[in-house]
Amino acid sequence: MRAVDVIRTKRDGGILSPAQIESFVHGATHGTWEPYQLSALLMAITIRGMIDIETAHLTRAMTDSGRRIDLSDIPGVKVDKHSTGGVGDKTSLILAPLAAACGVVVPMMSGRGLGHTGGTLDKLEAIPGFRVGLTTDEFRATLRKIGVAMISQTTDAAPADRTLYALRDVTGTVESIPLITASILSKKLAEGISALVMDVKCGRGAFMKTPPDARKLAQSLVRVGTANGLKIEAVITAMDHPLGHAVGNANEVEECLGVLEGKIVGPLLDLSVLLAAKMVKLAGLAEDDADGERQVRAALASGAARRKFEKLVAAQGGDLKAFRRRKPYPAVPLAPRSLGYVTDMDAEKVGRAAMVLGAGRFRAADAVDPLAGVTIRRHVGDKVQADVPVFDLHTARPEAVAEAAALLQSAYTVGSTPTKKPLLLETIAP
Ligand code: URA
Repeated sequence: MRAVDVIRTKRDGGILSPAQIESFVHGATHGTWEPYQLSALLMAITIRGMIDIETAHLTRAMTDSGRRIDLSDIPGVKVDKHSTGGVGDKTSLILAPLAAACGVVVPMMSGRGLGHTGGTLDKLEAIPGFRVGLTTDEFRATLRKIGVAMISQTTDAAPADRTLYALRDVTGTVESIPLITASILSKKLAEGISALVMDVKCGRGAFMKTPPDARKLAQSLVRVGTANGLKIEAVITAMDHPLGHAVGNANEVEECLGVLEGKIVGPLLDLSVLLAAKMVKLAGLAEDDADGERQVRAALASGAARRKFEKLVAAQGGDLKAFRRRKPYPAVPLAPRSLGYVTDMDAEKVGRAAMVLGAGRFRAADAVDPLAGVTIRRHVGDKVQADVPVFDLHTARPEAVAEAAALLQSAYTVGSTPTKKPLLLETIAP
């Protein structure tokens, strides 16, 4: 099969056959298509789109471009959660142990921060000694022993996606619903899970800026996941404002510990509970969402979820005592511009400020400073007081403070009445 004929088919609005899709994915995996041919087809797909059957074939072919971990010998239903990424989005660290404490097996493979959005691996590595690069044998042993493991994508998980994603990043083809769907699901299917909860973020701080776009992606993920044998449910949640009060790495871990210890309530807890409850339901351990939520709240209240997190950290080499002994950078407070109530806070600007302070990467090779970041002292809906800063900045780069402070001062608005927006926008089930 010639690449040029496959490209012409899609260029002219045709439907690609399974053989054409397999040729493309083989070409990306083994270098039998030139990068300009791969890029041309990516652009044709971005412009012309794909029907669900094509996206389902693409997903399967990308999964089969590498190794699918076989977890069938580990008892229990394997369920993961995936978020399309946001600012302060740290629910994985809470819901993975929470769902595991309710009997779900959680083989979670996560990513690093991307642009202004944070990544679970960078957060976990803020715990001294925590190893995200377990071997497959260690991953399996941890899952068998404590029912949860949190690692980086193995190099043989959907290798076609690595080549295609790198090309998409530089050819203006990231924003394609079928390509995003296949990219996310191929990596998740390679984990050996049988069910998945998708958290599709929507708003200024997210990939999908509007509800119609988020809905299209969520529906595509649910339909294509189902076609590939996954039990899957998606929620669309707001990402206009940062989630929780910490944006960074170590400070986000600290906030998660606070939630697991029952000391922190609010949207971060609520979303973690909602997603964990769906995981319990999809594992077949709860009758419905309400039953799942009851179990999850009981696991929090009894301390079972916190103990599970401690076991997870210890099993992966992390030292929570050393984490608690860390010396945070002195807080640089940012005084309010005016008094009233915080009515809005731009998640993307807060995420960018945290990056500037050292919590994220501008280039792939950049190191992340685990102690850098932003603490939101006054969030949306809170009353602003003259003597309480709206933000605290944490950094080892004094030269970055002015730029981060300017971003943060322009990130929020103050009004005369408190406002709150809903976090859960929609649920998409098969
Ligand atoms: N995350 C992914 O893994 N792939 C995409 O295409 C977009 C977000």
